[in-house]
Amino acid sequence: MADETTEIRNNARLAILELANMISVPMSLNAIVRLKVPDAIWQSGSNVPLSASEILARALPTGDPENLQRILRMLTTYDVFSEHIADGSSERKYSLTEIGKTLVTDGEGLSYAAYVLQHHQDALMKAWPILHEAVVDPKEEPFVKANGEPAYSYYGDKSEMNELMQKAMSGVSVPFMKAILEGYNGFKGVERLVDVGGSAGDCLRMILHKHPHVREGINFDLPEVVAKAPNIPGVTHVGGDMFESIPAGDAIFMKWVLTTWTDDECKLIMRNCYEALPPGGKMIACEPVLPKESDRSHRTRALLEGDIFVMAIYRAKGKHRTEEEFKQLGLASGFPHFRAFYIDQFYTVLEFQK
Ligand SMILES: C[S@@+](CC[C@H](N)C(=O)[O-])C[C@H]1O[C@@H](n2cnc3c(N)ncnc32)[C@H](O)[C@@H]1O
Repeated sequence: MADETTEIRNNARLAILELANMISVPMSLNAIVRLKVPDAIWQSGSNVPLSASEILARALPTGDPENLQRILRMLTTYDVFSEHIADGSSERKYSLTEIGKTLVTDGEGLSYAAYVLQHHQDALMKAWPILHEAVVDPKEEPFVKANGEPAYSYYGDKSEMNELMQKAMSGVSVPFMKAILEGYNGFKGVERLVDVGGSAGDCLRMILHKHPHVREGINFDLPEVVAKAPNIPGVTHVGGDMFESIPAGDAIFMKWVLTTWTDDECKLIMRNCYEALPPGGKMIACEPVLPKESDRSHRTRALLEGDIFVMAIYRAKGKHRTEEEFKQLGLASGFPHFRAFYIDQFYTVLEFQK
């Protein structure tokens, strides 16, 4: 090609090599979580830069410091660690960046580490090499083709997968709920609140703590999920299937549920919510909402990457949606009023009112 040696062409070759090797990034992230590297660096709470050998001494009885250092060095380029090389020394030391700190276990035993582990379990990983099958035949998702059954029923049989899922959801939801409880006041006047797909009940626990007028919380999820949920004062765990019926409440909260399902399934869930609400009652959904136009921002990438995760694992035609698409789902399910609140970078609060 005539422009084979131009800078543009060189940059393109570099960019495609970076993309082709991209699997090294999530797998290295998974490796440092499995090795508990973030907790090892943070052990004293001081985030003092440590060499790979020093980190290893805290994390494992034995291991190969050079290989750990190679993983840390690469993740430094994605801003998970900061690299420190003292003048005149060849030794590299690593501390945690703000991104790295999201993987450190907090006082409540939570972090984003469980989410990283949850996404890279064997059964989920088996779906990725056949992602193209979602284009060839969207009736069956790659996860089902790889494992023989849908993800939620697959988790249901395996207590360690269910527990990891709950821990992952808690780790992601708790920081988000802190943000929305600061910036959103739509729970006014609600006394009985139902959380549909509420997992371990963390969202309700936090809402009840912030709004004591919500006297009763109903945490509604699959029977095998609520069976493992902890006791929370004011919260009743109810097992069931949201596609059949949803317990009645003054308002319904639902976070990170609609995204997983097809348009027809969302309409069924939302119609069941409509039935469970009094006139004027609100369904408050928190979901990733796509921008109309795609761009290269971290936000858009995180949202679009999550969209492909849903395609591979949950529903080939489940998806991340735009605000307009959510509004149309609401109208089709009977909700005449709709408002969106952009409080958090990842989740948008969507109010559907009966
Ligand atoms: C992505 S998780 C979100 C959990 C929680 N709302 C949060 O944001 O942390 C989706 C939840 O939907 C629940 N779920 C899946 N199918 C369901 C069904 N048919 N009926 C009720 N809940 C269901 C799952 O068990 C899971 O807890």
